[in-house]
Amino acid sequence: MHVMEEELQHLVTSARAEAEAIGEPAQLEEFRVRYLGRKGLLSGILRGLGALPAMDKPRLGAKANEAKAAIEELYAAKNAALGAGRAHVRPALDLSLPGRQPAHGRSHPISRVMRETCAIFAAMGFDIAEGPNVELDYYNFEALNIPAHHPARDMHDTFYVTDSLLLRTHTSPMQARIMEKQQPPLRVVAPGQVYRCDSDITHTPMFHQVEGFLVDKNVSFADLKGVLALFVNKMFGSGVGLRFRPSFFPFTEPSAEADISCILCSGKGHRNGEPCRICKGTGWLEILGCGMVDPNVFAAVGYPEDSTGFAFGLGVERIAMLKYGITDLRMFYENDLRFLTQFA
Ligand code: PHE
Repeated sequence: MHVMEEELQHLVTSARAEAEAIGEPAQLEEFRVRYLGRKGLLSGILRGLGALPAMDKPRLGAKANEAKAAIEELYAAKNAALGAGRAHVRPALDLSLPGRQPAHGRSHPISRVMRETCAIFAAMGFDIAEGPNVELDYYNFEALNIPAHHPARDMHDTFYVTDSLLLRTHTSPMQARIMEKQQPPLRVVAPGQVYRCDSDITHTPMFHQVEGFLVDKNVSFADLKGVLALFVNKMFGSGVGLRFRPSFFPFTEPSAEADISCILCSGKGHRNGEPCRICKGTGWLEILGCGMVDPNVFAAVGYPEDSTGFAFGLGVERIAMLKYGITDLRMFYENDLRFLTQFA
């Protein structure tokens, strides 16, 4: 047997063994280049064909073509096998897969409580109004019976923008803004953000209030009490108590702060033999400031002297914490999805 014939036979044998072991398209491409490429093993052998004696040329030429066809067939078979295998493992589109759930947002607990609060008062006939967060000193203080240098300004830790412009420290400026434009009788709730230069575990520089006020003839503190009792009943349930403590605000007279009986210890002040953590053993929790609108406020907005009315300002964060049993104020502003997704 001619040495070239032996070489060809050997080439096909090793190609067959190698093709067998190929598992990936990249390996197959390497195989093609090495055996069938222009600088490949087969071309290397065929290059010797020219130097052969003329009598050997036809026979060895035919053998070379056979070897080439055999290796090409190995390549084609493997190529088909790999292609089919790929289709099986990774289909272009699997129609049997379930659809992907789009992640949908939820209302923030603060938004929920604000909306629910407004809805409760709207059901009692209150209108809903919103006003600017950047407020004039006049509406935030002056019109509310808090003149410049009044000591009550100290309570507010105000962020000033300019001498006469500030971030509102409460929603009460809405009392003056609405009354200035609208004649009595009226009832309005005004939800929104308020700002105080104060930041620790129980205070954030921005928080939320819902202001409420009603002005008419012969409005009494009993009306205020009745409206707030109904609110507490709707927001927290019928078993929750409400009490008023005397307090002071320059824009109401008389003034009060209202507490509800503690949600955690049911007003008992203790739980499992220990003083209640939430109400600190008192059995009560403060949720709002309120009172009868001060005559000086009516004077500032040009209302008749016989006007009577009440006003209150609810702390939204406080109510949300009590309603949902949240013990850390910071939770509201960390945007942790593990927290936020609990309010479905
Ligand atoms: N604006 C007061 C505060 O932020 C609350 C309040 C509102 C009190 C209305 C009386 C009447 O503390």
